[in-house]
Amino acid sequence: MKRLEALYLVIAAAVAGLGFAVPYLAHRDGAQSVPGWTWFVDPGPLSSRHAFLQQDCESCHTPHLGPTADRCIACHANESELLERAPTAFHAAVEDCRSCHVEHLGRSRRPVDMQHEQLLRLALEKRGSAAEFVAAGPPPAAPHAGITRAEAQLACQSCHANQDRHRTLFGTDCAQCHSVSAWTIPAFVHPSAQSRECVQCHQAPPSHYMEHFKMVSVTIAGRPHADVSQCFECHKTTAWNDIKGVGWYKHH
Ligand code: HEC
Ligand code: HEC
Ligand code: HEC
Ligand code: HEC
Ligand code: HEC
Ligand code: HEC
Ligand code: HEC
Repeated sequence: MKRLEALYLVIAAAVAGLGFAVPYLAHRDGAQSVPGWTWFVDPGPLSSRHAFLQQDCESCHTPHLGPTADRCIACHANESELLERAPTAFHAAVEDCRSCHVEHLGRSRRPVDMQHEQLLRLALEKRGSAAEFVAAGPPPAAPHAGITRAEAQLACQSCHANQDRHRTLFGTDCAQCHSVSAWTIPAFVHPSAQSRECVQCHQAPPSHYMEHFKMVSVTIAGRPHADVSQCFECHKTTAWNDIKGVGWYKHH
């Protein structure tokens, strides 16, 4: 790490008497061997979960290189929940923690800053196992202003399929409409409540295709002849539990 290196030199020059012994000892024996030296380069308090490492800089920092993945992995190799959850399962395939994991920003800040572009960089460096979250044919240009071309090369559904509110009705290319910062789309205006095209964009829950529909839904709504595809007969655009002519329907 160039900057940390430069700081060592500045400290060395500034601390009269100690000369270059400070950086030398710190490198040879770890930060603990020269009490107080860390004060000069302290870049800010660690996040709360890492606070216990405040006196042990080299648990994360490799001399000359900065924070390196091997240090992080030494403590975080067995994160089974992280690896089992679709959006973060990629952790099994990456060997670099930079960009997405920040530090020294204070106790209250989680040391996480998701950078989707970093995923692409890592995948291109490494192909192989990481390539599964890269889309097959990269787009010639970004599909819309809210996303970069690099981000749009990711296969969003490989990590986010479980969050698909559209139950695959809109396909798997989430990047066509979404950005990577939030799922909401400020410019989106929902079709009129009088629309009869609901089924173009919405798929009913599985219960609507089972006995439950004829036995329960139809009865609650008081629409004995409605077909499942006629969502507008029973539903409003406010919320799926706001049933026409009935009001808010609460499940028991
Ligand atoms: C839990 C791991 C961890 C510990 C412990 C830790 N650091 Fe860091 N440090 C990092 C990470 C990660 C970065 C990169 C920050 C970023 O990219 O936002 C960093 C960045 C820095 C930087 C800025 C370097 C640069 O090029 O941006 C300095 C200086 C630094 N650390 C010094 C220290 C000192 C001194 C200690 C001990 C008091 C320490 N660190 C303890 C993880 C750690
Ligand atoms: C000496 C062991 C150790 C090292 C080295 C270490 N960590 Fe941690 N880390 C921990 C512990 C312990 C926790 C708290 C776990 C918990 O509470 O379940 C933690 C928590 C975290 C969290 C969750 C923080 C939160 O607020 O949710 C992240 C992310 C993380 N570490 C990433 C890293 C990264 C990236 C590095 C390398 C720069 C690193 N860790 C280095 C031990 C370590
Ligand atoms: C492309 C970005 C990215 C990279 C690269 C990355 N992470 Fe993460 N990591 C994340 C995100 C985002 C989360 C937080 C998920 C959440 O909010 O629960 C996370 C969560 C974690 C957690 C669990 C935090 C908790 O809440 O308990 C640990 C530990 C962790 N990462 C360690 C690492 C280590 C070690 C590396 C390097 C080998 C690494 N990560 C590389 C994005 C990344
Ligand atoms: C390799 C896995 C991966 C891929 C591929 C991926 N993401 Fe993500 N994405 C994450 C992780 C991890 C987070 C952090 C939040 C979390 O852990 O759930 C995240 C966060 C997001 C968020 C913010 C969610 C929130 O509520 O804060 C959006 C929006 C998003 N991604 C959209 C996309 C889109 C669009 C694509 C395709 C262009 C994409 N992602 C590709 C892993 C991925
Ligand atoms: C054809 C365009 C389109 C495609 C493709 C698409 N979406 Fe959406 N999505 C939308 C629109 C429009 C909204 C409503 C946005 C709003 O209300 O701000 C939305 C909303 C969402 C929301 C809820 C946002 C909220 O919090 O209100 C999630 C989650 C979501 N989409 C996930 C996905 C995922 C995952 C994919 C890919 C598998 C995907 N979408 C593909 C257009 C699309
Ligand atoms: C052009 C596509 C489109 C049409 C047509 C459409 N919607 Fe939507 N609707 C969306 C999108 C996108 C969202 C936000 C993401 C989501 O929840 O799927 C949404 C959200 C909703 C929600 C809120 C869901 C929630 O849990 O927050 C309801 C209720 C709803 N629509 C009902 C209807 C009804 C009833 C009709 C027909 C009268 C209809 N929609 C027609 C695209 C459409
Ligand atoms: C005959 C009336 C009727 C029709 C037609 C109908 N629904 Fe429903 N739907 C209901 C009723 C009543 C409920 C609440 C009680 C229940 O689950 O039966 C409901 C519940 C729902 C829920 C909430 C499920 C949950 O678990 O919270 C969704 C989503 C939904 N409907 C979507 C749709 C969509 C999309 C369509 C059109 C493709 C549709 N419905 C057609 C009557 C109907």
